[in-house]
Amino acid sequence: MAVVTGSSRGIGAAAAEHLARRGAHVIILCPSSSLGTASADAMRRRLVRAQVESVVCDLARLDQVRGAAERITRLVGGRLDLLVNNAGVAALPHTRSPAGFEMHFAVNHLGHFALTGHLLPALLSAPRPRVVTVSSVLHWLGRCRAARPHAPRRYYRWPAYFDSKLANLLFTRGLTRWAQTRELPLRAVSAHPGLVDTTLGSRALHADGRRCEARLLEWMQARWHSPDQAAWPLLRAASDPHVTGGEFFGPGGRWEWSGSPVHVRAARRAHDDRCVARLWQLSQRLSGHPFPASSGWPGRRGEDP
Ligand SMILES: NC(=O)c1ccc[n+]([C@@H]2O[C@H](COP(=O)([O-])OP(=O)(O)OC[C@H]3O[C@@H](n4cnc5c(N)ncnc54)[C@H](OP(=O)(O)O)[C@@H]3O)[C@@H](O)[C@H]2O)c1
Repeated sequence: MAVVTGSSRGIGAAAAEHLARRGAHVIILCPSSSLGTASADAMRRRLVRAQVESVVCDLARLDQVRGAAERITRLVGGRLDLLVNNAGVAALPHTRSPAGFEMHFAVNHLGHFALTGHLLPALLSAPRPRVVTVSSVLHWLGRCRAARPHAPRRYYRWPAYFDSKLANLLFTRGLTRWAQTRELPLRAVSAHPGLVDTTLGSRALHADGRRCEARLLEWMQARWHSPDQAAWPLLRAASDPHVTGGEFFGPGGRWEWSGSPVHVRAARRAHDDRCVARLWQLSQRLSGHPFPASSGWPGRRGEDP
């Protein structure tokens, strides 16, 4: 049983299809009901025996995230083996979520933080559950602004994206620590796809009239990976039996833009435990404490990251 967020298109769609081809029962999570249904139908047409369902959820809306987690828990019969936190937005103009949080932070990090927390009972019912969170090589340019990442005083569209991709890695480190101190079998892993021919970033730039920037981005993305190839680091993170919590996979080629999936290095900031702790506490508070602080499971206690 696997959930892939943002799998109506792009890398998520490719990853979901690979998983379905390998026999996984896959749930496509995306914000549009029509796109989700169309993607699931298309996948069933291509793979006759594919078990695919779609769940609608706008990750920027925490009420929808909670509802989607309940729906997913019912669909998977209370047991989820794999969650791939892949959905993402990039290069948006300054926009806030309905709860007032900066949109890259809200979708790329906070929505996934809350979804993972609400799905914990289902994940922990599986024998070896895994959470794969999709970052980017651009996390190297991100800063840990744990004081106010949800409501920055000054806004720049690309740095907001870079920061959210660093937050994805800080979350994986926090989740690894959270599970390890409770001696839970959950493994949290990160992956990044390289530079990929999708609409990420360019949709927002086109909508904002930044056509030259959009075309340059599309030209660069189209030169490197297809979504199919770019899904490999995610799939290795999701399925390699030797993976341990906190590992990070990406393409092994030049500048990690394309190539076969290998272990990759994260920026030193992604290992900063003070940032991990601050981001964890902030995310818990903003999303209504989806991670139980102490003894969520009988006989096991643990510290927060
Ligand atoms: N493309 C690249 O070069 C690249 C490089 C590094 C990392 N990445 C990472 O790879 C991941 C996938 O990106 P992609 O390139 O495949 O992008 P994409 O083609 O634009 O797909 C993004 C997916 O996320 C979904 N999504 C967007 N906002 C959402 C929301 N509020 N709630 C739920 N789902 C939402 C989209 O749904 P709709 O289409 O219905 O809006 C879509 O299915 C992202 O995390 C991104 O940061 C991409």
